[in-house]
Amino acid sequence: MSDQRVAVVSGASRGIGAAVAKQLVNSGFLVAGTATSEAGAASISESLGANGSGYVLDVGSSESVLAFYQKLTSDSAMPDVLINNAGVTADNLLMRMKEEQWERVIDTNVNGLFRMTKPVLKKMLKTRWGRIVNISSVVARLGNPGQSNYVASKSAIEGFTRSLANEIASRGVTVNAIAPGFIDTDMTGELTEDQTQQMKDRIPVGYIGSTDDIAAAVVFLVSDGARYITGETLHVNGGLYMS
Ligand SMILES: NC(=O)c1ccc[n+]([C@@H]2O[C@H](COP(=O)([O-])OP(=O)(O)OC[C@H]3O[C@@H](n4cnc5c(N)ncnc54)[C@H](OP(=O)(O)O)[C@@H]3O)[C@@H](O)[C@H]2O)c1
Repeated sequence: MSDQRVAVVSGASRGIGAAVAKQLVNSGFLVAGTATSEAGAASISESLGANGSGYVLDVGSSESVLAFYQKLTSDSAMPDVLINNAGVTADNLLMRMKEEQWERVIDTNVNGLFRMTKPVLKKMLKTRWGRIVNISSVVARLGNPGQSNYVASKSAIEGFTRSLANEIASRGVTVNAIAPGFIDTDMTGELTEDQTQQMKDRIPVGYIGSTDDIAAAVVFLVSDGARYITGETLHVNGGLYMS
């Protein structure tokens, strides 16, 4: 059996997840990247080459998560590294927010984290090595009008990270969060030019981050060299927020 480490990246079809999956392949991992559609999964397989494959996964469905891990186990193995990256927004001022918008964001971003993480623990604890990285957001610290659902979900992710890190630290498994600032992806592409310029003006380095800026931080946190970092939230935001 190969001793190549297996990494799962949820939401690897676009944006931050796609860059993370590529950099993990380049760092020697066998990567399973996920998309919500067959077409997305096929394009992940194509872009990652021999050391990566695309899978269909909806983190909002327990059945889908179970089917994904079953397929992964028969194709290769359960992961040594899990990157919980899949996330959605459904913005609205709270006065106008529909319960459906609240529930969709909490279910995908928070319940999805539970569904994806619990099944990977057994192998990591048994092998006494594992890395879990959860993608939060700078808005968990800053707050953001119109995003109370999303900000609540990202704050929950950071609390989950600290609790789980405490539970399993003694078994060689680290659990950390990365809080990206303003990164150029489809998610931020929905903003107007004016909104984008206003955001740029607030970032001390003077430019919007790239998906590779976040992927580089992920590669560091999953490395052997990062074994003494756990329960932490790493801010990657060009100085927009300094903790
Ligand atoms: N962009 C930013 O500035 C920024 C800043 C802070 C934090 N973040 C966080 O970084 C992560 C990635 O953001 P992004 O900007 O790269 O997003 P994106 O470009 O909108 O991509 C989202 C990814 O998540 C997948 N996804 C959506 N719903 C899913 C579900 N129910 N189950 C499984 N996968 C699902 C999408 O798959 P499909 O392609 O199949 O739809 C896609 O691969 C998110 O957690 C986001 O909150 C982003």
